[in-house]
Amino acid sequence: MTELWIIGAGGHAKVVAETAQAAGFSICGFLDDSEQMRGQQVLQWQVHGDSSAESMHRLGVRTAAIGIGDNATRKAIAERLDEVVDWATIVHPSSVLSPSCKLGAGSVVFAGAIVQADSILGRHVILNTQSHLDHDGRLGDYAHLCPGAALAGDVHVGEGSLLGTGCAALPGTRIGNWCKVGAGSSVARPLEDHCTAIGVPARQIRTHSPPHSA
Ligand SMILES: CC(C)(COP(=O)(O)OP(=O)(O)OC[C@H]1O[C@@H](n2cnc3c(N)ncnc32)[C@H](O)[C@@H]1OP(=O)(O)O)[C@@H](O)C(=O)NCCC(=O)NCCS
Repeated sequence: MTELWIIGAGGHAKVVAETAQAAGFSICGFLDDSEQMRGQQVLQWQVHGDSSAESMHRLGVRTAAIGIGDNATRKAIAERLDEVVDWATIVHPSSVLSPSCKLGAGSVVFAGAIVQADSILGRHVILNTQSHLDHDGRLGDYAHLCPGAALAGDVHVGEGSLLGTGCAALPGTRIGNWCKVGAGSSVARPLEDHCTAIGVPARQIRTHSPPHSA
């Protein structure tokens, strides 16, 4: 059984921990940078330290998963610790992944998610509860399909984009890098990089800075 540490100790981290447990990992505990969380009990596990490389060495962390839903934060942590730990790829046993799909290191697939044929998912993506990615889908690194998001066939999503709870994307749609699609929205037209789009059909309401220049 692989021993696994979870970085982050908030609500998303709880779900990552229980998903990993269901997938057969042995959970060692949480690592969180907030002083207030240190020593706290979260579910049946403890917060043992922060997410510094020093903590990793002290605790003998070999394999970790990032339990943080914010895509830019997840990217920053992944890049900082890439040479320090191995990233677990976690798939809940109730999810259905096509044998022809590819899933990048550090990605987490929650209960009831479905990925169909020939889809390619990057590193550290989140497929949240009951989200669906149909055939020939593409999800860039650090993208997040929130609970119940449903992407039709041949939808391509760029790096770091957030697709809100219960949103939809029509077949063949292209969604850029670091976009935010509002909960319940329906994407019918291409979305340019760094935009926020809401509604049915989704309309761009603003553009924002890429995370590294924030
Ligand atoms: C789209 C979203 C990213 C915008 O967040 P934001 O940039 O902070 O925008 P604001 O909250 O300032 O909202 C801007 C306007 O859009 C409206 N709006 C926000 N989200 C909306 C949505 N999903 N559908 C329709 N209208 C929405 C707001 O009411 C507000 O309208 P107003 O200007 O008339 O008051 C966010 O509202 C959202 O839907 N996020 C998805 C969150 C989610 O599903 N998380 C799951 C985690 S597991």
